[in-house]
Amino acid sequence: MGTLLYVIILLAFVYVLRKYLLRLKLPPSPWGLPLLGHLHHLAGIPFLSLHALSKQYGPILFMKLGTVPAVVISSSVLAKEVLRSQDQMFASRPYILVGDYGLYHFQGIGPVPYNDHWKMMRKLCATELFTPKRIDSFLPIRLEEITGMFSALRGAGAHKAVDMRNMLSIFTFNVMTRILMNKRFFEYGEDEEHIDGEAKQFKDIVFETADQGLQFHISEFIPHWLRWIDWKVPELKRLHAKKDKFLQNILDQHKDMASTKGHKDFMDIMLQNLEHRGAAREDFIKAVVLELTIAGTDTSACIVEWTLLELLHNPRVLSKLKEELDAVVGSSSHMVEEPDFQNLDYLNAVIKEAFRLHPPLPLLIPHMSTQTCTIAGFHVPKNAFTFVNVYSIGRERGVWERADEFWPERFLGKSVDVRGQDFELLPFGSGRRACAGMQLGLKTVQLLVSNLVHAFDWSFVPGKPSEDYLLQERHGTVNWIKTPLQVCVVPRTR
Ligand code: HEM
Repeated sequence: MGTLLYVIILLAFVYVLRKYLLRLKLPPSPWGLPLLGHLHHLAGIPFLSLHALSKQYGPILFMKLGTVPAVVISSSVLAKEVLRSQDQMFASRPYILVGDYGLYHFQGIGPVPYNDHWKMMRKLCATELFTPKRIDSFLPIRLEEITGMFSALRGAGAHKAVDMRNMLSIFTFNVMTRILMNKRFFEYGEDEEHIDGEAKQFKDIVFETADQGLQFHISEFIPHWLRWIDWKVPELKRLHAKKDKFLQNILDQHKDMASTKGHKDFMDIMLQNLEHRGAAREDFIKAVVLELTIAGTDTSACIVEWTLLELLHNPRVLSKLKEELDAVVGSSSHMVEEPDFQNLDYLNAVIKEAFRLHPPLPLLIPHMSTQTCTIAGFHVPKNAFTFVNVYSIGRERGVWERADEFWPERFLGKSVDVRGQDFELLPFGSGRRACAGMQLGLKTVQLLVSNLVHAFDWSFVPGKPSEDYLLQERHGTVNWIKTPLQVCVVPRTR
């Protein structure tokens, strides 16, 4: 009886919503189903499904995800409208289950609505973690980790297949956890089975939270008063209890050692800065530390993996990049350092080209319209999920010549950049909600790609044809290559 009542109320709600929506001039829509609306179009790999739909219906698309309205933006001109001209209108985020149960009831940054808490957290990150001076102060961590990775690569021997995804993930994970909590969890080349309990526990927590964040959940597409029916809630609560115990333990260690520590990590700085917030500060800190670990690891690792794969598929580009590195840095075995980056035009072009074709987050984190507004002459209803498909924008016809080709030369002599000022290339988003860790992410990618190419010769594993590594995407926490990249790697002979 109770269920029947809910179904009737839901149908009444859908009816009223339909009447309201019919009065608006909405963007074109694909075919939908009763109740589900267009949710079935998000099956498979959502950014690829939406890319295919945009080819059919155009650069702005209207959908209903259950009872929630949504728009999909797939062109640079309309992305500029959403992320610059009407930035404030779209600066909020829709309800995401993992922000609620996975990140301490919206105490993080990314899934948080546009409110005072979000502003305070962004400001704290901007002034305490991502200032140029602070990013420079993390350089020794990046260099130590790169040295560790290189000795594992040298030790692998010419004929052993090396799993580059594993190497890069260890690098980015260690860098982030050392910056955030002064802890190092992984050794390069370590067998998965021998990973120590604490490291494995934290890796699982990070993976499970990110994975839940990526999935769509029923409670995101029904009226808020019906959210209790979401069957995923108990699972998320269990995961939350596990992660809270883990993070609280690390936080307590920081509190105990606060007065004796010389070097302060981000957790120490947050403890100091949020003192006046009383008990709530601990949840803020745990939420932000977990979120930054998720945000800063797979994103950087996956784009370096794609870049290496593209270079292996394009030997001409690889040798041109080596030539540039030899000319600018010298052909000795000495490392490529950050001041070199400004003189490495081809390196920067290669990285931009990888970001264009393989953005780590092909759909930006969903934005949300806070009022009914107009985009390209169409109405966008209030509280609409707003997806910006950066994958489509990177392949937009009429904007990119030879759009499907890996051709870094397109960027030489051009001012187009990845930092959010050029709307045809948006791997970090743009506007108020652009990536908070963009500078750190970019420096990490530049350091890894340049040094890996400068120090080693790369080849596909013999007997495992390069066709195994089709340039195909996989559904995962980020836009990973379908199969983890395995390579043979030898120190360069000069
Ligand atoms: C190559 C590396 C990275 C890429 C490609 C990347 C990309 C992105 C993108 C596309 C967004 C969403 C923007 C939007 O919704 O409009 C985002 C948000 C965010 N990123 Fe990154 N990111 C990277 C590295 C990092 C790092 C290293 C950190 C921090 C340690 C970080 C922290 C964040 C945070 C906190 C947000 C949420 C911003 C907000 O909602 O206000 N990211 N990132």
